[in-house]
Amino acid sequence: MCSEKAKNQKMNLETRAYRGQILFFNPQTSTMQKPDLCWYQDGLLVIQNGYITAIGSYQELFPTLSSNILIHSYKHKIICPGFIDTHLHYPQTEMMAAPASDLLPWLENYTFPTEAQFSDPDHAAQVSTIFLDELLRNGTTTALVYGSVHKTSVDCFFQQSAQRNMRMIAGKVLMDRNCPDHLQDTAASGAQDSADLIERWHQHGRQLYAITPRFAPTSSPQQLQSCQELAQSFKDVFIQSHVAESQAEIAWVKELFPSYRSYLDIYDQFGLLRPRAVYGHGIYLDHTDWERLAQSGASVSHCPTSNLFLGSGLFDAQRALAAQASFSLGTDVGAGTSFSMLKTMAAAYQIARLQGHYLNAFQLFYLVTAGAAQQLQLPMIGSFAPGNEADFIVLDDGAIPLLARRLQKNMPLEERLFSLIMLGDDRCIQATYIAGQCLYQRT
Ligand code: GUN
Ligand code: ZN
Repeated sequence: MCSEKAKNQKMNLETRAYRGQILFFNPQTSTMQKPDLCWYQDGLLVIQNGYITAIGSYQELFPTLSSNILIHSYKHKIICPGFIDTHLHYPQTEMMAAPASDLLPWLENYTFPTEAQFSDPDHAAQVSTIFLDELLRNGTTTALVYGSVHKTSVDCFFQQSAQRNMRMIAGKVLMDRNCPDHLQDTAASGAQDSADLIERWHQHGRQLYAITPRFAPTSSPQQLQSCQELAQSFKDVFIQSHVAESQAEIAWVKELFPSYRSYLDIYDQFGLLRPRAVYGHGIYLDHTDWERLAQSGASVSHCPTSNLFLGSGLFDAQRALAAQASFSLGTDVGAGTSFSMLKTMAAAYQIARLQGHYLNAFQLFYLVTAGAAQQLQLPMIGSFAPGNEADFIVLDDGAIPLLARRLQKNMPLEERLFSLIMLGDDRCIQATYIAGQCLYQRT
C-alpha cells in the first residue's frame, strides 16, 4: 500500500461521526435576549483527533464522508455541547447538604473543617477523582473550580483533570485572615504559590488557572494587592471570587472595608474586574455595580440551588440583562445541592419566575453552553463549529419514565427542552465526550 493511502486510512480511523438530533447556539449571532439556535433534526457531528471537523444535516454531510468512517447513531437523542459550570468548590464535594442557618455559620462549622483535610495530597487526589466523575456523569465538561488554600489541592486536581484531558479552570484559594490559623496563607506565600501553579498549569494542555481570593472578608488589603499584581503579570488567567451573597456577609464586609462604595467596588479598586473575572452570586448588587460589571467585562455566576439552600436571596437576572452585564450559571457545590446543570437551570428558572421574570429553555441552554464559553473567552468550546474542541454530551429525554410520558410527538422543541430541564437529572445524560473520547456512558 502506498504510504499516502496508509496515512489517509489511519486518519480516517481516527475520524468518527455521531448521528442524532443536534442542538447548539451560534456564539457569533446569539445574545442572552435572543439565542441563535442551530438545530438538526437528523444531524451529523464529525470528529477527528479530538476536534470537530464538520457539522450539518446527515443527508448533506454523509455523502461527503469517506466510506470507512465509523458512524455512531444516537437515534432520538440530542447531541449538544457539554455543559459549563462557572462556580463550584471541589473540596466541598463530600460536605454537600450540610445544614446551617446562613452562609457564615455554614463556612465556619462545615466548610473550613472540611477544607482543612486537603493538605493531604492522597485525600485531594481521591476527592478530585470523585468530583470529576460526578461532573462527567452530569454532562459538565468545563468548570471554574475552587481548590482549598493548600497548593497541593490544586496540583492534585489538575493532575486528575489533565489525565482525563478535561478543559478545567481552577485556582488555589487565597485567605490570609478571618479563618482558622491552619487555613491561612500570607499575601506573600499565597502569591508565590499562585504564581508557581500558573507557571505549572496554566495552558498546560487544556488546563487553565484562576487567581482565587476566596472573598473580601478573608483577604487583607495586602493580599488583594498581591492579586492585582498577579493579574497584571498574568494577563490571560482567570479571576474568581464571591460577591454580595448574603446580607450578614455584606454587613461584615462594610465593617472590614468601610471606605468602599460597595462590596464589588473593593474588587474594582484592586483591579480585579476584567474579562475572565467571574464573581459568584451577585445577589445584592446595585445599578452602579451592574454597570461596572458590564463596562469591565467581568461577569457573575448565578448559583440558584446554593442561594435557595443557604437562604441567601434571589438573583435578579432581569437587572443584569437591563445593564447588559453578563451572567452564567454555577452549581456552587457544596452549598449548591446538585452537580446537575439541568437542575441548576430549573432552579434559575424558578428564581426568575418568583420575580416576575421569564427565562425560556433556549436561554437556559445557551447560558450553560455558548453563553458561558463567550463570557470565559473560550471560543473553542460551548458550540459546534469546525475547529472546536469536541466536548459534547448525549441527552436522553426518554431515560426517566415520568419525562418519557411527558414527551409527545411533534412537541415544540422549546417545550421538550423545558420539560427536560424541569424533570431531568443525571439519568438523562447518556454519554459525555471529552475531546472526542467517550469518558462516560450511562449503563
Ligand atoms: N463565600 C466565601 N466562601 C464561600 C464558599 O465556599 N461557598 C459559598 N457559597 N460562599 C462563599
Ligand atoms: Zn462558592
